[in-house]
Formats: sequence, C-alpha cells, structure tokens
Amino acid sequence: MAKVKSKWVCTECGYETAGYLGKCPECGAWGTLVEEVQFPSKPHVKDEFVNKEKPEMLKDIHIGEEVRVSTNISEFDRILGGGLVQGSLVLIAGDPGIGKSTILLQTSGELCKNSKKVLYVSAEESASQLKLRAQRLSINADNLYIYPQTSMENIKTQIEEIMPDVVVVDSIQAIYSQNVASSAGSVSQIRECTNILMHIAKSKNITVIVIGHVTKDGNIAGPKVLEHMVDTVIYFEGDKYKSYRMLRAMKNRFGNTSEVGIFEMCTDGLKCVTNPNELFLNERSQVAVPGSAIVVTNEGSRPLLVEIQALVGTTPYPSPRRVANGVDTGRVLQILAVLEKRVGLNLSKQDVYVNVMGGIDVYEPSADLGIALAVATCARDVVVDPQTVIIGEIGLSGEIHPVNNIEKRLNEAVMTGFKKAIIPYSNKVTDKRIEIVPVKRLIDAITACVSAQ
Ligand SMILES: Nc1ncnc2c1ncn2[C@@H]1O[C@H](COP(=O)(O)OP(=O)(O)OP(=O)(O)O)[C@@H](O)[C@H]1O
Ligand SMILES: [Mg+2]
Ligand SMILES: [Zn+2]
Repeated sequence: MAKVKSKWVCTECGYETAGYLGKCPECGAWGTLVEEVQFPSKPHVKDEFVNKEKPEMLKDIHIGEEVRVSTNISEFDRILGGGLVQGSLVLIAGDPGIGKSTILLQTSGELCKNSKKVLYVSAEESASQLKLRAQRLSINADNLYIYPQTSMENIKTQIEEIMPDVVVVDSIQAIYSQNVASSAGSVSQIRECTNILMHIAKSKNITVIVIGHVTKDGNIAGPKVLEHMVDTVIYFEGDKYKSYRMLRAMKNRFGNTSEVGIFEMCTDGLKCVTNPNELFLNERSQVAVPGSAIVVTNEGSRPLLVEIQALVGTTPYPSPRRVANGVDTGRVLQILAVLEKRVGLNLSKQDVYVNVMGGIDVYEPSADLGIALAVATCARDVVVDPQTVIIGEIGLSGEIHPVNNIEKRLNEAVMTGFKKAIIPYSNKVTDKRIEIVPVKRLIDAITACVSAQ
C-alpha cells in the first residue's frame, strides 16, 4: 500500500507545502494553513478545453453563439450581465443564513417556468426541508428535480442521466469526491469537485451554479480558492438583521462587475427592489441634524442616494478614536487630514465616527465631499440642508475633483425629490430642474452649507 502523506494547504489561496508554516508565503495570510491527508489519488479529469494538442489561429477559432438565459429575476439578471450564460460556472458566496438557498430555489422555479430543466442538488438539507421552503416561496414547478446528495460521483451520474439545463449545487463545501481522500469542505475536495463541475459545465453546455459559504473558521476552505476556477463570482451581502440583501459580482467573465442587485427578504422570498433610493433614504429623520449628508454613489449603471452620518465629540481617551462603517477607514483618515490642514478644522482632540446608513458599503471616491461635510457640519454644529445632495472627490490639497456620470447622478437626485446639489466645479453641468452649487475647493462647499443656514 502506498504511504499516506500529509500536506499543508492555505485556506485562503490554496498554496501547498510539506510542513506547517505560520504565514502563507503566497498570500501572506497568518494561520491559514491546515493539514490535509493526501492519499495517492486517481487521475484528475482531463480538461480538453484548455488542453488542446496544437495552437490555433485566432481567426480560425469558431465560437458558438453566447446563449443567455434570463432568470426572470431582474436584479439577478442585471448583475449577471443580462442572464445566465449557458455552460458557465457561477459561484454565489455569502454568510450563513443570508438567503443563498432561497434565491437559488426561486431562480430554479423561474427557470422552470421558462421551460428549462433544473436539477437542484441539496447537500445540506433534506428533500422535505426544500419542499417546505418551496411552499413558502410558492414555487410549484414541473421541471424541477430535487436531489439530496453529497457524493460528487452520484451527482455526475444523475446530471448525465437527466441532462438538465441548469444545475444548482448547495453547497460546494458539503459535497465530496472519491478521488480525494480528505473530508468534504477541505481545499483539495473543493478544488476537485469544482474541477469536475467545470468539466460538466463546459463539456455538456450545462450552466452550473455553486453555493459557497464564507466563514472565518480556519477548518473550512473559504471560497477564495474557488474564485480562480469559476467564471463568475457573486457575493451575497447584507445585514442579517435588516431585510434587504445585495448581490454584487466580484468577477464576471461574461459581464462587468460594477453592478449590484438589491433585494428585500420577505416571508415569501426575496423581492427585487426597483427603487432602492426609497429604501435607503426612508429611515432618514425628516428634521435636519448636524452631521448628515446625502451622497450619490454610482453603483454600476444605477446611481444610489445614500445618507452619510458623522459624529464628532471631545475624546475621553489619550488618543482620539476614528471609526468608519461602510466606508474605507483609510479614506476617512485622509479626508480628516485634509479638513485639518486645508480648512483648519481642529480634530486632534475629537473622536470621529462615520457611518453609511442602510448598512451598505460605499467604495466610490465621489462620496468624499459628503463625508467631509458630514464631519465638518457636525464639528461646527450646523446642518447640511436636507434637500441637498453632495457629490465630489477631494484631493489632498483640498481641491474638488470631477466625478463621472454626473448627469445620471443629478437625474437620480431630481427624481428622488432633491432641490439642490453641491458638485465639482470642473464637472460644468447645467440642469434646470435642480439648483446647482459648483465648488472648486472643500472650504467653498463648507461655506456654502454654513451660509445657507
Ligand atoms: N418563515 C420565514 N419568514 C421570513 N423569512 C424567513 C423565513 N424562513 C427563513 N427566512 C429567511 O431566510 C433566511 C435563510 O435563508 P436561506 O436558508 O436561503 O439562507 P442560506 O444562505 O442558504 O443559509 P445557509 O447558510 O444556512 O445555507 C433567514 O435568515 C431568514 O431571513
Ligand atoms: Mg442554504
Ligand atoms: Zn495563502
């Protein structure tokens, strides 16, 4: 019998080594290497899509038409780039309980309505559990096969027998292949099973959607290893304690990755939110308070109006606290430094908290000016007019840089009922429907707010 060997695998990036290391030399993560027993494995599935005998001329390569299938769920289609591409491998990753099984069961139901054949492999829940969920979501589809199964080989056999259009695997961490000796959820298993699924998707032109758990637990491989292998990576985010959820594409070989899909979790399933601005702004207090500013971020093709709140107060600590939720802390620190240096706002003895309301994350620099005004108005105890939106990126010398898609952003502000917009001077736009205050420097924007009191 062959000797049993063990190896250490990084759960973050899949790096392999013979012995334990505290820090992964590949990705630099600490404490992510886990031991995996390695039996002599059977040969892996051979990938003839990437293993051609000879190179071909680009002009001679024949491509089949890219067929997209609509999921009938508009927000899901949006982030996929217009629908599921046939023969692609899609990963949906998210925290436990966020609603991954729900959205994919709903999607399966919709696909079946479109007379597609769907195989839903449930490796975590029993058939009756799924049936209960389906009843709650009022899914009654004829072409939907439910298959509680954890063995990759059995799954493969059934796929070949049923030949569905779409396969859902819930979840990749719960299935295992005989080719690999380690337990389900280990990096080797995840890699092997994904390989097999990729092979099925490409060779049979079947769309495969895989669910992956995100967990901090070192024993279970995070979907990071998976991300390299699949065509599309979608993150399912949201605050578990609030009802809305967001789908965000992190990687897409068939579309752009700047779109977000917004849903609301209801008793009868996830509902598309077609007007997210109402959702994000309806919690806003109607009375103007210091330290609140509305920014217009551009998420994909759709601008979103979001409230930024700041709290500034004298610190009881030796060094003041800087806390940022929903925005990058480094970005906030930079804005605070500009406020101190270029505007003369003394924050050295002040705690500063910045929060994006609604629990969403704002990555875009166009929110800079809104953050700065929230902080500055709170520190000076004045208010930003609640009918005003703030748009602009701040440079280190306090100058305001232009932003892209300004017309779209302004249009969204007008549609949501805002009356005034503070925008970068260099954007040079006119819009008769809204009062525009162009600003060149951060101090001008603050003056505009103060003088409007
Ligand atoms: N009866 C119900 N009414 C309303 N919402 C419900 C109900 N049952 C479940 N939910 C919602 O569905 C969520 C669980 O959804 P789902 O099982 O699809 O999540 P998941 O991401 O697949 O979870 P897991 O990681 O456990 O597989 C719950 O957190 C809750 O918000
Ligand atoms: Mg689930
Ligand atoms: Zn690593």
